[in-house]
Amino acid sequence: MWSIIQNSFLLLSPFLPTSLIPSSQITPHEDYHGPLTDGGVWYEAYERARGVVKEMTMEEKVNLTTAITGPCQANSGGVPRLGIPGLCFNDGPSGPRYTDFVTQWPSAFTAAASFDRDLIEERARRIGYEFRGKGINVELGPVTGGPLGRSPYAGRNWEAFTPDPYLSSTLSFLTVRGMQSSGLITCAKHYILYEQDPVCDGPLDDEGGRTGCRDVSSEVDDKTMKELYLPSFAETVRAGTGAVMCSYNKINGTAACENDDALNRILKDELGFKGFVLSDFGATHSTVGSALGGMDMELPGEYYYGQRLLKAVKKGTIPESRLDDMVHRILTPWYASKQDSDYPKVNYQKYDLSDSKEVNGHVFKNEHVDVRGDNAMYARKVAAESTVLLKNSGVLPIKGVRRIGVFGTDADYPSTLSGCGPDLFCLVGSRRRYWNGTVTIGGGSGAAYADYIAAPIEAISLKARQQGIRVDHVLQDDPAHFGSIGWVAYQSEICLVFVSLFLVEGWDREHLRLDKRGEELIKHVEKNCAGEVVVVLHAGGQIIVEDWIDLPKIGAVLFAGYPGQETGNALVDILWGDVNPSAKLPFTMGKSPKDWPRDNLVREMGKGSYPIAEFSEGLAIDYKWFDKHDITPRYEFGYGLSYTNFEFSGFEVEERYEKDRDTVQKTNERYEGQRGLYDTLYVAKVNITNTGKVPGAEVAQLYMTFPKSEVEQPPKHLRGYAKEYLEVGQMGTVEFPIRKKDISVWDVKKQLWKVPHGNFIFRVGNSSRELPLKMTVEIGSSF
Ligand SMILES: *[C@@H]1O[C@H](CO)[C@@H](O)[C@H](O)[C@H]1NC(C)=O
Ligand SMILES: *[C@@H]1O[C@H](CO)[C@@H](O)[C@H](O)[C@H]1NC(C)=O
Ligand SMILES: *[C@@H]1O[C@H](CO)[C@@H](O)[C@H](O)[C@H]1NC(C)=O
Ligand SMILES: *[C@@H]1O[C@H](CO)[C@@H](O)[C@H](O)[C@H]1NC(C)=O
Ligand SMILES: *[C@@H]1O[C@H](CO)[C@@H](O)[C@H](O)[C@H]1NC(C)=O
Repeated sequence: MWSIIQNSFLLLSPFLPTSLIPSSQITPHEDYHGPLTDGGVWYEAYERARGVVKEMTMEEKVNLTTAITGPCQANSGGVPRLGIPGLCFNDGPSGPRYTDFVTQWPSAFTAAASFDRDLIEERARRIGYEFRGKGINVELGPVTGGPLGRSPYAGRNWEAFTPDPYLSSTLSFLTVRGMQSSGLITCAKHYILYEQDPVCDGPLDDEGGRTGCRDVSSEVDDKTMKELYLPSFAETVRAGTGAVMCSYNKINGTAACENDDALNRILKDELGFKGFVLSDFGATHSTVGSALGGMDMELPGEYYYGQRLLKAVKKGTIPESRLDDMVHRILTPWYASKQDSDYPKVNYQKYDLSDSKEVNGHVFKNEHVDVRGDNAMYARKVAAESTVLLKNSGVLPIKGVRRIGVFGTDADYPSTLSGCGPDLFCLVGSRRRYWNGTVTIGGGSGAAYADYIAAPIEAISLKARQQGIRVDHVLQDDPAHFGSIGWVAYQSEICLVFVSLFLVEGWDREHLRLDKRGEELIKHVEKNCAGEVVVVLHAGGQIIVEDWIDLPKIGAVLFAGYPGQETGNALVDILWGDVNPSAKLPFTMGKSPKDWPRDNLVREMGKGSYPIAEFSEGLAIDYKWFDKHDITPRYEFGYGLSYTNFEFSGFEVEERYEKDRDTVQKTNERYEGQRGLYDTLYVAKVNITNTGKVPGAEVAQLYMTFPKSEVEQPPKHLRGYAKEYLEVGQMGTVEFPIRKKDISVWDVKKQLWKVPHGNFIFRVGNSSRELPLKMTVEIGSSF
């Protein structure tokens, strides 16, 4: 365990951890066993990095590992003497944050609901080019499994894809590949086991910020780590991510950013990661501990690296070979992505949308480069493809009506596009600065600015007007307006109710309900509506809907997630059936908070010096918990309706070997047998027929059950999905390649992946609980 006594620091933001560093002895540097990079597939880039590092002074090397003030959200130092610029770092997963003439994309968990690989990769590619166009070298994203989504109460799950490790893994791989195809360097985050924000027990400060906060220590057994929380990061390494961000939490009592086990042993050795590890903002707690623990760069300010790092290297507490390694790791992906020869210069400056800003004597120009191209159209497509139809009596798609009523502040324009300050740090509840207007994205580092919001009321009004439909609206939630809401509802053939849940980094959820008493609004409209009610949910996670879902006039319910700036247009595409809904829930919606494991978010400080989260549910999160404990959810993982119907037939699983072709950087994961861990061993196939009356797409889902001998395994695991668009009456065949890793378990004793022998059951269908076709495959070979 590394760590040394340090002064406490004034941290950057009120919710950031303020814990002191536990003291322990400094281990002599001979103990450093983190692997030094060799560049892997970027060998040429690594050789160039090595060549140039040889020319550098110690001060110059340190400069590259440390943040300086600059135009971006964070900037690292450069070496002007050798023509190496500092790098520009900026959030985040839903588009470039803190700047203008960019696209606010549907957030990751919303896009995940599309279950569409091509769509996700194209979304990523387009986001990548927006970052590139602004001259950003490293995107602080995507969020690839930290959080994964262990608890429905975590306030940042919406920044990530899904709690299912297979879906999250595949989307993480495609997102890194798509984003980096622009020449951008991605930073997979937040590594690792970051499943909640710190526990705070102090009073709110004047700004409404939290005080007395402590980082939580995540305590997870080895098997759960390897099989559940690590796979998405493994996929980002395989896809060639240039950077990884270490997280705020502790792991087994040691901060993630100085965790030798997590960074050196697992990420750099076992996964063979060749790029650099940078710290989350304020997540660095030591100089020597972090450097020897595997952290390569400190952001966003100089607290523990910079002068302190220089001193430690000069003194010999940190070997210079380790400093060289940090710099090799930083420069290798930079050369490999050709940013040294062909990359736009930084042309914006954070927070401020004015034309120039002076910081410490430097003037940073903002050129307002428009990087959007036709991305608005694509963002609209992603949002529509990601809108989940949860319930439908037949009221949707809208047809043959003449009077529509629209209700709720969530249908309206936000009062400003950054109404809660540059971070969109407004919060319902504690800070009493309510987000008003439609919710298109959450707050904190996952937020992205929008240049406009196509509000639902705008898009609905335009569409309705073209069809001669009258639209009345009361865009209020407050019971003070229930009189006029009731009166308008009473005259509407369809009542569209908009409700929301706005989530912000730093504020985990206290309940699973809607903001602003949305349930009351729904019930009030339902009671008064002349026709049927359509509920639109703009929420960043699970919502308990039991209060109202079965009321007689609730005709349809749409889960639209955080759809980004094109929200209203995408919704209209679904409401009128121009796009047939095909999205599926990427998480499980329970009926009661009691459906989830108790206390799977730590809220108490506990008796020690920091709060501890024991991940005692092991592998069984989300649908695997519900399956294991036989709990009937309201809507299961993978569930989502269409305006048409589909039938599955001809399910087969055949042995077919295909060598892995998409790995960029090979991992060092150990496994039994000859075949590679990412080679395909089997292919499952199924036919889908559109048996309904309109064209549409269906997501066929493949689930696998391990042989009975694997007693720790939950009943089933997603192991394939494929989206197929079909005309009326058309049949299509989809294939699911099954890789060796997909049928392997982590053998804790042998410390390797192995294929257990016995009967595997494969099932296919349209959700994790509708799996009509089944096949048993006996596997007796280790391949
Ligand atoms: C550190 O980086 C900054 C920004 O690139 C640069 O201005 C400064 O000269 C660098 N210092 C050294 C010692 O190279
Ligand atoms: C944390 O401790 C548990 C229990 O000793 C161990 O199984 C696990 O591998 C440790 N995790 C890490 C990342 O070191
Ligand atoms: C909307 O929010 C802004 C900014 O917080 C506030 O000034 C305004 O009064 C709010 N409007 C309503 C209708 O709540
Ligand atoms: C899923 O397929 C079953 C038939 O296997 C069908 O009854 C059901 O309506 C479908 N569900 C969804 C959500 O499409
Ligand atoms: C499934 O589709 C294939 C062609 O893609 C066809 O040869 C086969 O007969 C179909 N099976 C069933 C049961 O429909």
